[in-house]
Amino acid sequence: MYADALKRGEKIFAVAPMIDWTDSRCRYLHRQMSKRALLYTEMVVADAIIHGNRDRLLGYSAEEHPVALQLGGSDPAKLVEAVRIAADYGYDEINLNVGCPSDRVQSGTFGACLMRDAGHVASLIEAMKAVATVPVTVKCRIGIDDQEPETVLPDFLARMIGAGADAIWIHARKAWLQGLSPKENRDIPPLDYDLVHRMKRENPDVFLGINGGIIDLEQAADHLAVMDGVMLGRAAYHNTGLLAGVDAMIGGSSPGGTNTTDVDWLALRDTMMAYADDVMASGGRLNHVTRHMVGLFQGFAGARRFRQILSSDATKPGATTAVIEAAFAAVDLEAGPKRQAVAAE
Ligand SMILES: Cc1cc2nc3c(=O)[nH]c(=O)nc-3n(C[C@H](O)[C@H](O)[C@H](O)COP(=O)(O)O)c2cc1C
Repeated sequence: MYADALKRGEKIFAVAPMIDWTDSRCRYLHRQMSKRALLYTEMVVADAIIHGNRDRLLGYSAEEHPVALQLGGSDPAKLVEAVRIAADYGYDEINLNVGCPSDRVQSGTFGACLMRDAGHVASLIEAMKAVATVPVTVKCRIGIDDQEPETVLPDFLARMIGAGADAIWIHARKAWLQGLSPKENRDIPPLDYDLVHRMKRENPDVFLGINGGIIDLEQAADHLAVMDGVMLGRAAYHNTGLLAGVDAMIGGSSPGGTNTTDVDWLALRDTMMAYADDVMASGGRLNHVTRHMVGLFQGFAGARRFRQILSSDATKPGATTAVIEAAFAAVDLEAGPKRQAVAAE
């Protein structure tokens, strides 16, 4: 996928891995908005895959492709085992998390603290590559704690490239492992887009994507003028409508901006109602689907009411997909968005 994209000069737009957010239900919705965006799973810890309920952790709908599975771990044997198990589920890519700063992750010595040991990460990538039948990629930071990104990042990238990583996604800020919560670590350490852009110019033959603080498709298009890929997390989740403009943007036919006016909203409503019925028939709850839909109509008249209906009515006992119908009926679909939507966590 990445080698072909590079060869053909195609750009990749990705929705970031986000724990508790980018589950299968969320990805199903995102896929209705964009056929081409690469969708990441939540991080799944290798140990959980080995010992836990595999179908629950790894199962998803065929409609979600292309989907990348993000793994957390630092033990090569466990990661290899997880890659082997995941092969049966047909993911399009396996990604290693080298960016998550939470205490839980640090105590397992993986996630962002692996930035301290690029040699070890390289050996993990080599081990995973040896058994994977799909691209193996890395998502990292520009450094951690008192590391100097100007020296650490080029060295880290060189080692990942040497180990055969098919793509590297860089969250363009450090993680500060002492004293900041994971949420603060997504906002407080300053962004350094210039450094990441320079890394791309210095590595023309390797797929490099940028992530962090990008809030709309205009900014995404600016990054794509330099980078091979752009990854949005919070903005894509909170302002799901922006995904409607992605396919045109990466197809090169539009310089960006949202295309929400082109969406067949009633078809989307019907698709999501049918999907929610399926989810409920297999033991899920309506809210498992609707909780990811609240960001669909940022900027539309009626968006507030849409959110209220979904948030309050979808959790009531006995709630049916009529809640989705009622929520859509509250939105002025014809008029489209009144104002530029702004993403916030
Ligand atoms: C709720 C939440 C959960 C996240 N979980 C993960 C995760 O599982 N793996 C990961 O690599 N990053 C995770 N992140 C970080 C995002 O992937 C992304 O790097 C970060 O939010 C910055 O991008 P953004 O400014 O576009 O949101 C998470 C972010 C959020 C908001």
